[in-house]
Amino acid sequence: MPIVLPKLPYDYDALAPIVSGATLRFHYDRHHRAYIDALNALVRHTDLADRTLDVIIHRAAGRRANDPAAVAIFNNAAQAWNHAFYWQSLRPKGGGGPRGVLAARIEADFGSERGFADAFTAAATSHFGSGWAWLVLERGALRIVTTSNAGTPIVNGQTPLLVVDVWEHAYYLDYQQRRADYVANVVDNLLNWDFAAQTFARASEPSVQSAALPA
Ligand SMILES: [Fe+2]
Repeated sequence: MPIVLPKLPYDYDALAPIVSGATLRFHYDRHHRAYIDALNALVRHTDLADRTLDVIIHRAAGRRANDPAAVAIFNNAAQAWNHAFYWQSLRPKGGGGPRGVLAARIEADFGSERGFADAFTAAATSHFGSGWAWLVLERGALRIVTTSNAGTPIVNGQTPLLVVDVWEHAYYLDYQQRRADYVANVVDNLLNWDFAAQTFARASEPSVQSAALPA
């Protein structure tokens, strides 16, 4: 079975005006779909055909140093995974900060909810070039990390809880070059803290070894 483009979890216009319908149409219909289509073409007739996205990412990551074909497979597979996780990381009328157990951990690790928001926005804004800003869980601690291009924390032993896409295609139609405004607006108004809390709870169970793929 080829990898399938996951359904967008809300309508195209549901995140407006923070992320416009025009941006979402381009981003999901063109960019995300292109990564899926390219990936399926690349793995067809290889030993990675019919594997899950998670398996393809990890196996391609392990082969990248010696196999140029694995680089292209990793890039498209990781971008497919990262985008699915990004859609889940946002929700209409989101933001508002974490609640419950995760709120206590945010306060312990970043000083306050505002401390997290400021540090996350700074990291996302200052990341050089295309990439992603993540809240991850690593060995029991929350961390803010960024990855370049198709980089994904799931190959670094980290469990992602939230992500914001900082490729220009994510914000240029709405904010032009003003990445800081895009990130601050997304953090304050769209972050899906319920999704983060669910992932945090699952990852905190001793039996869970890695992040579950987004649906
Ligand atoms: Fe993107």
